Amino acid sequence: MCGIALIISGFRIDLSSVIPDSTDCSSPSHESETILFSVDDIKAALRKRGPDSLGSKSISLHAHEGGILRSSMEGEEPASLSHPKDNFVLNDSLVGKLLFIGATLQLRGVFPITQPLVDKSGNILVYNGEVFGGIEFSKSSNDAEVLVESLSKCCNCLSQEHDGTCSGKYSVPEFLSKIKGPWALIYWQESTKTIWFGRDALGRRSLLIHWPNIKDSRLMLSSVAPLYAVNENSDIGYENGLNEPSFWEELPCAVYSLSTGAQKIDEKLMCVVKRHNWLNPLLQELIQWDRTLVEPTPENLIKVHKMYASELQGHLHRKVLAALKESVRRRTIFSKFHMGNSPVAVLFSGGLDSMILAALLNECLDPKYEIDLLNVSFDGKLAPDRISARAGVNELRKMANLRRWNLVEIDAELSKLTSETKHVMSLINPSNTYMDLNIGIALWLAAGGDGWVREEFDMNNNKYSECQHVKYKSVSRILLVGSGADEQCAGYGRHRTKYKQSSWIGLNEEMKLDMQRIWKRNLGRDDRCIADNGKEARFPFLDEDVIRLLLDIPLWEIADLRQPSGVGDKKILREVAKMLHLQEAAGLPKRAIQFGSRIARESNRKNFGSNRAANQASAGSALFHGQ
Ligand SMILES: *[C@@H]1O[C@H](CO)[C@@H](O)[C@H](O)[C@H]1NC(C)=O
Repeated sequence: MCGIALIISGFRIDLSSVIPDSTDCSSPSHESETILFSVDDIKAALRKRGPDSLGSKSISLHAHEGGILRSSMEGEEPASLSHPKDNFVLNDSLVGKLLFIGATLQLRGVFPITQPLVDKSGNILVYNGEVFGGIEFSKSSNDAEVLVESLSKCCNCLSQEHDGTCSGKYSVPEFLSKIKGPWALIYWQESTKTIWFGRDALGRRSLLIHWPNIKDSRLMLSSVAPLYAVNENSDIGYENGLNEPSFWEELPCAVYSLSTGAQKIDEKLMCVVKRHNWLNPLLQELIQWDRTLVEPTPENLIKVHKMYASELQGHLHRKVLAALKESVRRRTIFSKFHMGNSPVAVLFSGGLDSMILAALLNECLDPKYEIDLLNVSFDGKLAPDRISARAGVNELRKMANLRRWNLVEIDAELSKLTSETKHVMSLINPSNTYMDLNIGIALWLAAGGDGWVREEFDMNNNKYSECQHVKYKSVSRILLVGSGADEQCAGYGRHRTKYKQSSWIGLNEEMKLDMQRIWKRNLGRDDRCIADNGKEARFPFLDEDVIRLLLDIPLWEIADLRQPSGVGDKKILREVAKMLHLQEAAGLPKRAIQFGSRIARESNRKNFGSNRAANQASAGSALFHGQ
């Protein structure tokens, strides 16, 4: 997982097309900067995401005889960058400045790379993502290098929709719309003097934005908020006051352009931000998330009979299994850098979703590698809630007894995690509820991978035996996470409630809402907490082809909430588990990470006195700045 950032200063930015309801549609005319953090604080936060290399590149832009000139400053930014008043004047013109920062966690390619990547035409890229398909690349190439090469061939079209004047070339939004896989990136296109930025249509990589305002007139993008507010001000993200928006926002998923022109306003260079549509029907469909077959009416069942006659005889489950397996296979691509014995780990609860991921990973990964299964518990060493994780690993061992499976038991005590809690508060920013914090801490500790394993391989009997507890730190750089399974297959308790209230249509609406806000509520937060350990989260249930296939399946085949919990919820995934010979897992009911790991209970005791008091106060959704 990489960390990327861009700081833009010295411009008057027209925001009217991206923030339509703001009263003043352009950035403030006076320069200002927050004193809460420095460029070095941003670098420090990014460095944790990308421990292999850190680089920056600064350029300045001058208006000159009706055009924009660029002058480049190699390497580090000049000291004057943090003092906007020092903007120097060239040929009587004003200057705008751009600072690109990139920290790299290298998982692909044969040679080490350093970001920002700069090509021979002067284009600049910082990139955090994985290309799994959609565009051409060879298995040994680094996808960042492939991207910089392909982006340099894009045409100069800036119009909202590609107008066909590019003679066979793609526009930048068109090209980015073709990528399958998670990404966030920032790109300087030299020929058009345009900054392109954005994140994938599903939001599987974090990108935060600070829109210019009176407090800080710069436009800033960063994978993660720097630690500033925790040091300077304990009300994180609320330096503006409780009712004002926080400093950083999740960037809504899209491609944006910021075009610089030579026009001046208030003695500053003017530039315009635009949001572009996804130019790929597949992505449009995934965002719309429309399902044709929602209700099992007699009329529907006839339609289904025509369309799904063969699938109904079992092909359907096989198709889902194949799509998931292909998704896991794509997500186990890595190069030889720092990979160790267990390159890919699974965030593991022993529940249905993580069992499916572990079993599929076993099928996709060379048998010589070990697989770490990471589990966090806040319930002390006794950890009765470890039971399903232990039962799960035993079932996996039965299924694949030649593989070395390491159940990494990570024991945590909330009361001893004071500084860690503050750190995670800063990582989840702009999320700010106790529920976010609890999930964030559980994910952050799991990704840290620092725990115990109990298993020892018994050479004589050629099997694993449980003998001693040994300290173990997982070094897997790739972490498979089950996000998206509950949203798409009706795994949450409230799905059942919705179904009881308003039947199939209501259930479908609720699931659609879940999928359309998952970037805002979950994915950015989860990405930031996991990446802070120098690890990369990959989400096989959120593969473009998996989502598309699941949407084509009638809702009543996905879940049937007339049936009891542990049967009807995520019905389709239970069928997949059976096909993988995971009999026990196929029958497990859902337990959310914050309850399963008991962090919610511990947090309620700590912050509200007791679990009961906390429930009465709706603790999960309470904001923690009040403390
Ligand atoms: C650890 O395992 C238990 C079940 O044994 C589960 O409830 C809990 O959510 C798991 N923790 C994580 C972080 O997956």
